[in-house]
Amino acid sequence: MTQLDIEFVRNQFPAFSEPSLKDFAHFENAGGSYACRQMIDALHHYYSATKVQPYYGFEPSMGAGVKMTRGRERMASWLNVGADEVHFGASTSQNSYVVAQALREYLEVGDEVIVTNQDHEANIGVWRRLEAAGIVIREWRVNPETAELEDEGLDALLNEKTRVVAFTHCSNIVGSINPVSKWADKIHAAGALAFVDGVSYAGHGLPDVDALGADIYFFSLYKVYGPHLGVMVMREAVNQALPSQGHFFNAGSATSRFTPAGPDHAQIASVNGVIDYFEALDAHHFGDSETLLSSKTDRVGALIHNAEIVNLEPLLAFLNERKGVKLIGKTVTEHRAPTLAFTVAGIDPADIAAKLAAQRIGVANGNCYAYRLMEALGIPPEQGVVRLSFVHYTSANEVRRLIEALKIII
Ligand SMILES: Cc1ncc(COP(=O)(O)O)c(C=O)c1O
Repeated sequence: MTQLDIEFVRNQFPAFSEPSLKDFAHFENAGGSYACRQMIDALHHYYSATKVQPYYGFEPSMGAGVKMTRGRERMASWLNVGADEVHFGASTSQNSYVVAQALREYLEVGDEVIVTNQDHEANIGVWRRLEAAGIVIREWRVNPETAELEDEGLDALLNEKTRVVAFTHCSNIVGSINPVSKWADKIHAAGALAFVDGVSYAGHGLPDVDALGADIYFFSLYKVYGPHLGVMVMREAVNQALPSQGHFFNAGSATSRFTPAGPDHAQIASVNGVIDYFEALDAHHFGDSETLLSSKTDRVGALIHNAEIVNLEPLLAFLNERKGVKLIGKTVTEHRAPTLAFTVAGIDPADIAAKLAAQRIGVANGNCYAYRLMEALGIPPEQGVVRLSFVHYTSANEVRRLIEALKIII
């Protein structure tokens, strides 16, 4: 098994050599990751050399257009979908909002949409609002003991009126990696569409969306080493079925139909930088990829996953054993992302976060917009949890420092 070269990885992130961030330990990656050098360079180049309206016949404009087209194509290749199936919007919340407007026109009174109470609100609230248009909303609830979504919950709700099921690949609180393809199969067998929130998954390795079977897959590049941009994969058949939300004269252009706000050209061009980073990871660790049997998406995903598990083990062990700590979600590393949320009897999460911040360790506290999940778990949403989240560039030293700091605080 190829091991991640952590020194190589950290050298790709200017944050690790930024003087003002010296000794700062970043454990809020589920909120936003550091940006890779390749993306910053691509953004800088766009603004310096090609900041004109793209896709005209003059040189800087053509240069801008080429970069934007390549960014989309290369991202599509990593996600294993067609280039016209990749849509860039301001954020995931914006992308789901636009799709909900399309559903408002497309669905009929009495049609049913299933939402969960495990998701971030970006993949719940917009669908729930369809109730005002006569759509019946059903809630697939987590088991309050485990915080997990279970097959039986979905089975009990699916019926011939179900049109859409919106669920998460990985909750930003529970951290479990949900069995998307199994659930997508069930949803398709019922004649419905699977809308999957991959925001808390994609930073741990870009997904093979085709293999997952999602009809729509959302994620946000500011958590995947890139700019503040939402990526939405919408499969071609769904694109053709849903009514366009763009300008009427653009209805024939697949990638203009669901991004009415207009794309941020520079950020789309900078997608190349994110892909350059993933390709650098691949080339550094696997060399001549032509000779390998696995896909680049799978092998880089496995590389990242294996590195994360090594750091996840001691942190999980510490939280599992510490008296007074109530960890949400799985106590084992299997099918778990390194996103660990917990409460501590008698201590406000905000106090824990503040004490860690005083030691230059950044973590999240609060409900992290998983408001309904807090309610389902009996946690006051205003107070919420402490959330520790890391990615593959996090070092074993940083994890040790976090554990030592937590030992004193808790
Ligand atoms: C799991 C999850 N889904 C959706 C979102 C919303 O993403 P965006 O900020 O791009 O709207 C977030 C943001 O934190 C998230 O963590």
